[in-house]
Formats: sequence, structure tokens, C-alpha cells
Amino acid sequence: MKTDEIRSNFLSFFEKKGHTIVKSASIVPKSDPTLLFVNAGMVPFKNVFLGLENLNFKRATSCQKCLRVSGKHNDLESVGRTTRHHTFFEMLGNFSFGDYFKKEAISYAWEFVTDVLKLPKEKLYVSVHQKDDEAFDIWENHIKIPESKIWRLGDEDNFWQMGDTGPCGYSSEIYIDRGEKYSFDERYLEIWNLVFMQFNKDESGNISLLAKPSIDTGMGLERVASILQNKDSNFEIDIIMPTINFVEELSHKRYGQDEDISIAMRVIADHARACTFAISEGVLPSNEGRGYVIRRILRRAVRFGYKIDIKEEFLYKTVDVVVDIMKNAYPELSLNKDFIKSLIKSEEKRFLDTLENATSLFEDYIKNVSSQNISGEFIFKAYDTFGFPLDILQEMAHERKMSLDMDKFYKLLEKQKEDSKKHFKGSKAIDAVYLNLSDKATSDFVGYVKTSEQAKVLYLLKDGNIVNELKEGEEGEIILDKTPFYPEKGGQIGDTGVIENPKALFVVNDTKSPTDNLILHIGKLIRGTLKVNDEVIAFIDKERREDIKRHHTATHLLHAGLRNMFGNSVRQAGSYVGDEFLRFDFTFYRALTKDEIEALEAVINQEIMKNEEVFIEELPYQEAIKTGAMAIFEEKYKDMVRVISSGDFSKELCGGTHVSRTGDIGYFKILSESSTGAGIRRIIAKAGKPAVRHAFEESELLKAISQTLSVNSQDMLDKLQNILEDLKEKDQEINKLKSKIAKLEIDSKLQKDVVKDINIYYGILEEATLETLRDIADSIRQKPKSIVFLASKSPKTSILLAKSKDLPYNMPSLIKEIAKPIKGSGGGREDLAQGGAQDLSAFMSSIKVLKESL
Ligand code: ALA
Repeated sequence: MKTDEIRSNFLSFFEKKGHTIVKSASIVPKSDPTLLFVNAGMVPFKNVFLGLENLNFKRATSCQKCLRVSGKHNDLESVGRTTRHHTFFEMLGNFSFGDYFKKEAISYAWEFVTDVLKLPKEKLYVSVHQKDDEAFDIWENHIKIPESKIWRLGDEDNFWQMGDTGPCGYSSEIYIDRGEKYSFDERYLEIWNLVFMQFNKDESGNISLLAKPSIDTGMGLERVASILQNKDSNFEIDIIMPTINFVEELSHKRYGQDEDISIAMRVIADHARACTFAISEGVLPSNEGRGYVIRRILRRAVRFGYKIDIKEEFLYKTVDVVVDIMKNAYPELSLNKDFIKSLIKSEEKRFLDTLENATSLFEDYIKNVSSQNISGEFIFKAYDTFGFPLDILQEMAHERKMSLDMDKFYKLLEKQKEDSKKHFKGSKAIDAVYLNLSDKATSDFVGYVKTSEQAKVLYLLKDGNIVNELKEGEEGEIILDKTPFYPEKGGQIGDTGVIENPKALFVVNDTKSPTDNLILHIGKLIRGTLKVNDEVIAFIDKERREDIKRHHTATHLLHAGLRNMFGNSVRQAGSYVGDEFLRFDFTFYRALTKDEIEALEAVINQEIMKNEEVFIEELPYQEAIKTGAMAIFEEKYKDMVRVISSGDFSKELCGGTHVSRTGDIGYFKILSESSTGAGIRRIIAKAGKPAVRHAFEESELLKAISQTLSVNSQDMLDKLQNILEDLKEKDQEINKLKSKIAKLEIDSKLQKDVVKDINIYYGILEEATLETLRDIADSIRQKPKSIVFLASKSPKTSILLAKSKDLPYNMPSLIKEIAKPIKGSGGGREDLAQGGAQDLSAFMSSIKVLKESL
């Protein structure tokens, strides 16, 4: 049975049993930044099992895309070394949310494997948890499996849990006996895992009963295909083998030729699938989070390619094969194909350069050491100075059966981190002075609710030094015990305003936060003197803050709008929220069309007109995530987070300041959409007053143009088109006239000498293009035994030399000689050469040279 058929037979079997077919979710878990990738079919339904979310059906079935890079057996390192493990795979599953339980789950599974897949009953075995008498009883008395073929196993095999916490329960597995010629593990192959979701495990490990017992099952598609297609390995099935065949062609080697070659080909075939799907869903190679996992997978594939002598970019070519095989089930792949290929190709190129350096560095090192242990110092140097990827170093060592002193390496790394941590916040260096102050002082932010606050001056700084006072005219920084000023953070710019008391007035131009607990007011003392411990009142520029709030809430609406339109592959990749405009960068594989931009703008303005309340609440992080709030995987969040939501449209974790109703935004306008590099798009937009002003200015500009053109604005485009065409015609006309004038001029300008029976015509024209010069020369050299040498001053200083057919000379070599006095040169055909010159004042010297050369 073809894999495509297994997939569709499974879904339609369960559909007939009352299940709703649910399309595979993205491998990027929706609003669950705690999980790297979807790693089982039940993940998209996690909240349903927990009772946090309700669907309007109680039975579901799916074929879910999964990516596993860690787990009991799936460390990236082991993928390819076995015939069964994958990073990317598909999981078939049927789910009951408080509907049917063990009896139906077991009966359905049995019916499917025996009736649809037609696996021989006598070869099937099952396992149940040793304490699960109920499941044992169903298998023995209902399905009628002999007791000897029902294994009772422990927690290790027959208890399933999604993670450290969450829904879990006993499981029951179906195995197939593939015959005596295999080792035990390969002989009895597990094909289907039925989980009886019955418990919930909390953070302290306590187990309680779920409100409604549920069913979660998982069958690895590749594995079941290998059984039905009679293959010893998952990699030989119809949806993977073509990629291996393609790699055979590229490397001129055969799969199975030797174990190393087979491993390399399995690694490449697996990783090609993982990279294709991940990039298609907006996970781009990077140095953090999910992007880093994909970068490692991609690089590992390249390295194994290198090992089988493919030493140039090749992985991107496998995308064609993968997409071709998978496009029926996942049509979006075809759409993203070119993007995936170009991204993989450039990543490959970069990595191949590193790889070459890394390999020689490693070879040099092992040549010079006698021990079988690679020192921590070398690992650190290779990693830190040369950017040698650690997993690759480990794999290289592993292949040579060498060990690595990782303890020492981590100690060195830790030391380096300690050294630099003191000086860094995020990626910015922090001055020692702020680090020092952050131990002694904390500024409380009160600006979510207040725009002014009475406060005390804790510290003053001038030129980076702590001072006791600031004098009139001095620039400096103020740290207060509490402040309404929002420091630049999470894309939102810092507030401006004033800090004053009867004796001093300080104008704040910017607010920043060099450490988590300090807020710096940066500006200038305009009047008086300000001292440490002074009481002051801090006022932010309210109007400006309102403008910023409008842009911030608008940014959330834009983010949500993009996701609604294009799905979860759109992810935020950076933002700027200011008082005049906003900038939003996001992952997407192509430019937006004009219609899409219009629709996006319309959706956002619609949300604004709905005037939804912008609801802000503080929640523990885990709880916030459970409510489905969008969070950025790479971002570090505190235990308590702010969740900003407006209606059902947008819900996002955010520390910024926001309007209280979407209607406060007033109006939203997209100014541009562009690319900032591979896979990242950028939208620049305005909200509120600046947006209205922008619209006003544009319409004023249009009015001014239409007045200048003396047409109403509807006819403006036609009018402009006409003007441009007119101009073009006129240009042509002018050129014709110029050429005419030049030809008229020629009689008066042209001179003639005769040398050795040859007629030499020459002269300088004021205004003639090369084309005109050619025309003139062509008409003159009709006469036998004639040579023409012409120059023109404008539009460029041009020269041209031509002869009649009956003369023997070579014009290109001649023009080089005679152009010397006028600092020129030229080239061309035997009978005509042209060029330029710098100084026509010596024109007669050129004529002299010409005469002498004949
Ligand atoms: N969730 C279960 C598994 O992944 C079915 O095996």
C-alpha cells in the first residue's frame, strides 16, 4: 500500500466512525513557547484534553507533521544511525475528548489493522500496563486475543505522558512479529500506541483524575508504511527512498554500499524533509531557539554530504524531490519551494566555508596530540574563536573514537560567560557604573497608570560619572525612586518630558533602562540646580505618549491581522514602536500583493471601528500561555507577564503601553511593505494623528499636482501619461533636427586636402551625436579615394574616422595614432572607427599625423 493511501485510508476510516478530520497543525506549536516543535499528534489538542478549550466535536482524527530532536531515542545524533528514527515524521492518530474510551479505542484500532491494512492476525501482539486489567480484559475477552499474546509491561513501556506535567495515562500498544530472522527489537515492531488519557500530573508530580477520560493514539506513518511495503527500514519506503536515490546520483555512490555511506544518505534524506517543512512554516535558520535547531539539522546534512564527497551546495536540490513526493498531502510546499531552496542554498554556502576551516583545524590538532582525549582548551578555542559547531566537533571525535573533555570546556565557557555577564544586558554592553548602581538602587515604574509622579532624586550622572548635582546648562542623567517615564524596551521608544521643582527644570529627551531595575532619564538641566535627594515632579509628554500607545496597540492588531491572513508561519522578527510611525518585521516568504495590503489595512481599521476594549491582565506565565496568548519564543519572560488582548482578535504578551479601546487608535495606514533579507518582510505604518496627517498631506499633494496639470484628479494619470509620451516624441524630433543642423553646418565646417591622390575631409562640429557623425561620413566616403575625420564637441567630445572601400588602410589602428595629439582613442571596424577625445584644440596636429601616415 502506498503511503499516500495509508494516510487517506486512515483518515476516512475514522471519519466513518464519527471523527472530524483535522488538518495537520504547523510544526511550530501555536502559542506554546515552552515547546520547541510539535512532537506528537495530540499536541495541537493539548488544551482540549485539559478542559481549557472546547471544540464543537468530540472525536477527531489527523495526520500530524511532527519534529523530534530530543527525547528517549531521538537525539539528533542518532538520526540516520538507525533505520527507524527521524527528526521529521508524520503521526496518524484518533482522539476522543471525553467521548469513547478503552473499549472503542481498542476495537477501532484492531479493525483498522486487520480489515483495512490487512495485517495477519496471527502475527499481531499487544501490550498493556501491568495494572490495567480493564484493557487486558478487552483484548482477551472482547477482541479474543490469546492470553499468551498480551504482554503486561511497566511504566517504561506502557505509561505515556506529554511532558513533565499535563495529561497522561496507561497505554496499550500493538506489535507485529516480523519473523525469527530479526533481533528481538526489530522482530516485534511496535506500530500503534493507544493512550488512555485518564490523569493529569501537576508541577509537584501529583496525579489527579482528568474530568473526562479521553483517548489519544499515535501511529508512525513511516513505520507502518515500511511494514506494508515490506521494507526493512523506514528509509526505503516510497516517500523517502526517492530522496536517497537522488543523493546516490549526486554522490556517485550506492545506498548499502557500506554502513557509513548508508548512514550519510539516511541523514540527508531525513534532514532534507525536516528543513523543507520547517522553512516552509517560517522557521528560518538562526542562532536562537527553533531557528538554531533547524540550522543544526541543515548543517549536519551538509556535513554528511561532505563525508560522501559532495563538496558543494547540494541540499537545496533535494527540496525538489521532497516537495514532489509530499505536495499532494501538503500543497503549500509547492508555493514555498523557491524560497526554501534559495534559503537553504545560501545557508549551505556559508556553512561549507566554515566546515572547510573546521576540518583542517581538527586534523591539525589530532595530528599533534598523542592522547585519545580532546582537551577542553582546544574545544573552547575551536568553538569560541573559530566558530566550530559543537555538535559537529563531537561527531568528528565520536567517529575517531576519541573522547572530549567537555567538563573542562563547560568550565571555560562558564568562566567566559561570568566575565561577560557582568557587562552585558541582552547583547548590549553595560557600563560598570550602571551595574554598580543597580545593586544599590531601583526605580519603580508607575507609568502604566500615571503620567506624572512625585519622586526623589536617587542618583545624578554626568559624562558617565556619578555626581552630587547638575548645574544650569549641563547635560546628564537622572535616576529617580519612582517614575512614570517608560524606558525604551520591547520595540517601544522611551518617553520624553520634564522633571522639575521650584528650583530646577530638567528636560528629558530620552528614557532608557541599562539594567532590569534602573530607569535613566537622559537630558539637560535648563534652569536652576538639581541635587541628589531633591524632591521633584516628573511629567511625561502626554500627547507623545498617546501617539506611542496608538502605534503600539496598532502593532498588535497588525501582527494578529497578518497571522489571520497567512497563518502561523508569520512570526514577529522585530519591531519599532514610535510616536510618528511603527515598523514591524516578520517572517514570510514573498512580497504581499497590493490587494493583500489593502485587505490587511481594512481588517485593522475594522477592528479600530469596532472600538473593542483593550484588556490588560497580569498572569503567571504558564497560565498566560494556556489562554493562547501570542508570545515570542526567543524572548525571555518573567514569572508574571502582562497579557494584552482586544476582543477575540489579538492576544499577546507585552510589557508596553496601550490605548484603552481600539477606537482610540483612530486610523491605521500602511505606508510600505518591503524585504529586509531572506525571508523577512517589513511593514511601515502610521496610526492616529500621524496617519491622518499623512493622508491629508497626500491628498494636498494630489490637489497641487492636479492644479499644476490643470485637470481634475481622476484624469491626472491619463494626463501624465500623455505628457510623458509627448516628451518622448519631442526628444526624437529634437534629435532629428540636431542632425539636420549638423548636416547643414557641414558645408561650411568641412575642409578638404589632397595627399597622394587621396581626398581628406575633416572638420569639427559644434553639436552632433556619433550617429550623426556616421551619417555624414557615410555620405562623404561614397566618393572614391576618400578619408573622413570628424569631431564633435557636444553632447560628448566624439571623433570618427572612415574611408572609402577602395583604400587599403586600417581605421582602428589609424585612429589610435592620430588621436594622440587630442588625447583621445577609439576603435571599430576596418573601414570605420570611432571614439572620444579630451582636447580638440590640437585637432590640426591630428590632421598632420593623418597626412603623414598615408
Ligand atoms: N501521544 C502518543 C505518542 O506520541 C500517542 O506516542
